[in-house]
Amino acid sequence: MLVSGKELFQAAKQGGYAVGAFNVNNMEIIQAIIEAAEEENSPVFLQASQGGLKYAGIEYIASLAKTAAEKAKVPVALNLDHGTSFAQVALCIRHGFSAVMIDGSQLPFEENIAITQKVVDMARPCGVSVEAELGKIGGVEDDISVSHAVFTDPDEAAEFVERTQVDALAVAIGTAHGVYKGEPKLDFERLEKIRNATNIPLVLHGASGVPAEAIRKAVPLGICKINIDTELRQAFTKAVHEVVHNKPEEFDPRKLLGPAREAMKEVVKAKMRLFGSAGRA
Ligand code: G3H
Ligand code: ZN
Repeated sequence: MLVSGKELFQAAKQGGYAVGAFNVNNMEIIQAIIEAAEEENSPVFLQASQGGLKYAGIEYIASLAKTAAEKAKVPVALNLDHGTSFAQVALCIRHGFSAVMIDGSQLPFEENIAITQKVVDMARPCGVSVEAELGKIGGVEDDISVSHAVFTDPDEAAEFVERTQVDALAVAIGTAHGVYKGEPKLDFERLEKIRNATNIPLVLHGASGVPAEAIRKAVPLGICKINIDTELRQAFTKAVHEVVHNKPEEFDPRKLLGPAREAMKEVVKAKMRLFGSAGRA
């Protein structure tokens, strides 16, 4: 069933686990995530970035995701990932998204607060949860590129949460979007300080390629939602490459996309077990 992101955030915080949020761009990705969630009996966020919505069309993504969520036996929230404008958030709410992220992290502190407040004022009466971002998460996520990460300041986070009343906060503590060059080093001390200063569900972006041990350490320190995109892309592409390599004469798209769907499903299932959301639906 389709539920508000708020429901998933609150249950995760109470239960001491994190819900996976997986980026979707087409039908097979959505199916892979929902099948994994059902098999693991796990709540899940389906999320689309602005780039994803531009690629597939918001009508397609919204209808596919809503169909999948309504058919699912587990709770599913549909989230806008890294929304950068009020208009984009409004459009997603109008298309039935049950969660939004307003990413004002590129703006000065006061402007980030102002746009986040505006989004909360609109989304809350609609029953739609709001995630914001403070600090700058490095790397590249579709059309957002950050060359210099800025870690989240715990005191600023406390003021930000107090003034915006957001449901969840994405934190910059050492992760980055895309493929890591070396092993990411997470600032757990900072994470704990942010958790103590805000006491709201925190979100870990750029979690593809973060070692399992670091994830296991971050969840008890307040991480309630974990975003994965790159590892799904890699699983999808590897599976397609394999078919193309082993059967170069294959011309049925289903024979390429079917194995890709299976490969993504395995990735999602493993993440759900690692994040502790398996068995929590
Ligand atoms: O918002 C999406 C995620 O933060 C993606 O991170 O590139 O590590 O999969 P990733
Ligand atoms: Zn992200």
